[in-house]
Amino acid sequence: MNQTVIAIDGPAASGKGTVSKAISEKLQFNYLDTGKLYRAIGAKYLEGFAPITAAQNLNSNELDKYDLQKPEIAQAASEIALIPEVRAALLEFQRKFSQKTPGAVLDGRDIGTIVCPDAKIKIFLTASLEARAKRRYVELNKHDGKIRFETILDQIKERDERDQTRSSSPMVAASDSKIFDTSDLSITEAIEKVFSYIQEKI
Ligand code: CDP
Repeated sequence: MNQTVIAIDGPAASGKGTVSKAISEKLQFNYLDTGKLYRAIGAKYLEGFAPITAAQNLNSNELDKYDLQKPEIAQAASEIALIPEVRAALLEFQRKFSQKTPGAVLDGRDIGTIVCPDAKIKIFLTASLEARAKRRYVELNKHDGKIRFETILDQIKERDERDQTRSSSPMVAASDSKIFDTSDLSITEAIEKVFSYIQEKI
């Protein structure tokens, strides 16, 4: 049976995690942050494990095991995300999740294009590099006061470039997606805008 799937893609710190979670709560849908899958493999890679084997053996209860928000894990995630075999190994888990009842919200980079090309609703959230780096800086600064804004900005820029230019499932807005720029929106405004669009479409 085809469940209602909402695909929310976009670059780092565009607000997709917060928006996706809020939408899933409003609709009582299941929610998967697919970045966590890549971050979990990135964390294993930093521990010395082979990324393809780690992806083939990923256990969903490992997703909360590591301190996955760390910037070095985000960087490692974007490196292992280049490997086609890693992406292929994670595909089935994501597709299976998308079929959960009564519906699912998945956020990532390639949900609307590759993971769930038939999703009923596709959204691409974006924002300027500066706005995104500022948000991520505020978030990470709560845990690590020594973190520098310039470092975060450079890391996000590097990750964006890698995500956009990789040959396997590059980050791109699906042609049938609705694009929202959240640079000048508060998180509440972003949630409201996206939610009212979803209500129109659902
Ligand atoms: O939270 P943030 O947007 O910074 O990153 P994330 O969504 O947790 O993703 C971390 C990294 O995983 C990204 O930079 C991508 O390289 C990779 N990723 C991917 O390739 N495909 C996805 N569907 C999700 C994440």
